[in-house]
Amino acid sequence: VFDTFWTKDADDWIERWGERPFCAEHGRLADAAAVKLRIANLVRPIRRMSQWTFATFPADDVPGRRALKAAAAYLDELGEWEPWLFVFGGVGSGKTGLALSCLRAYIEGRHGWDDVGFCNVRQLLAQTRGSFASKGASDPTETAIKPWLCVLDDVGAERPTPWALETLSTIVEARYVANYPTIVTSNYAPAELAERLGHDDIVIGQRIVSRLTENALQIRLDRPDLRARGAA
Ligand SMILES: Nc1ncnc2c1ncn2[C@@H]1O[C@H](COP(=O)(O)OP(=O)(O)OP(=O)(O)O)[C@@H](O)[C@H]1O
Ligand SMILES: [Mg+2]
Repeated sequence: VFDTFWTKDADDWIERWGERPFCAEHGRLADAAAVKLRIANLVRPIRRMSQWTFATFPADDVPGRRALKAAAAYLDELGEWEPWLFVFGGVGSGKTGLALSCLRAYIEGRHGWDDVGFCNVRQLLAQTRGSFASKGASDPTETAIKPWLCVLDDVGAERPTPWALETLSTIVEARYVANYPTIVTSNYAPAELAERLGHDDIVIGQRIVSRLTENALQIRLDRPDLRARGAA
């Protein structure tokens, strides 16, 4: 029920205000509400994540503080060119939370949102496989290819079947060729990721990771699982 409510509202909002949600006439309050709805729509169905910002990001340790600083530097750069961001670290270290906070900060600062996306790679692959059955359905990989700025969450979590690798390569290649800045999160450091994706053919893994990291700022979140703290 919540999902439908949030999604519909966000769509309504976008339809009404289109690309100018930040016009002065709408006031600051409206802006905040608009951003919230947009984020909620991007990360559905995990509504809890729509509350996450830089302000709530767990940063009471050195890796957390460093990550925040690096993310701020990344956003500065994003105003100038098309840098990529590669966030890696152990389970529950805050990678998705950091990526999402970057996306939110970008939306808040940049007066528009049609050009952002958020995809969990494994879910995206599952949806893509599912869409083969229904003829005429839109291609889910478009949601990872079209947005100018997009989070590819959890790269490497998918089973590296030839089909999954092919699909991931296509997405990465498309974004690379278009020069669209991309925020990647992974449980694996670049070299490890290349190995995992290149289990059968190392060149395939290297081709993907080389593109993911060529113009990327890397952030390593080296800390214990935040979920074990019972953080909400
Ligand atoms: N911006 C944020 N605001 C509030 N809490 C956050 C934020 N980012 C992370 N957290 C907290 O830290 C926990 C772990 O964060 P997150 O899901 O980002 O980890 P992860 O590194 O992506 O984990 P995984 O490897 O399992 O994907 C969250 O469940 C949440 O409690
Ligand atoms: Mg995650």
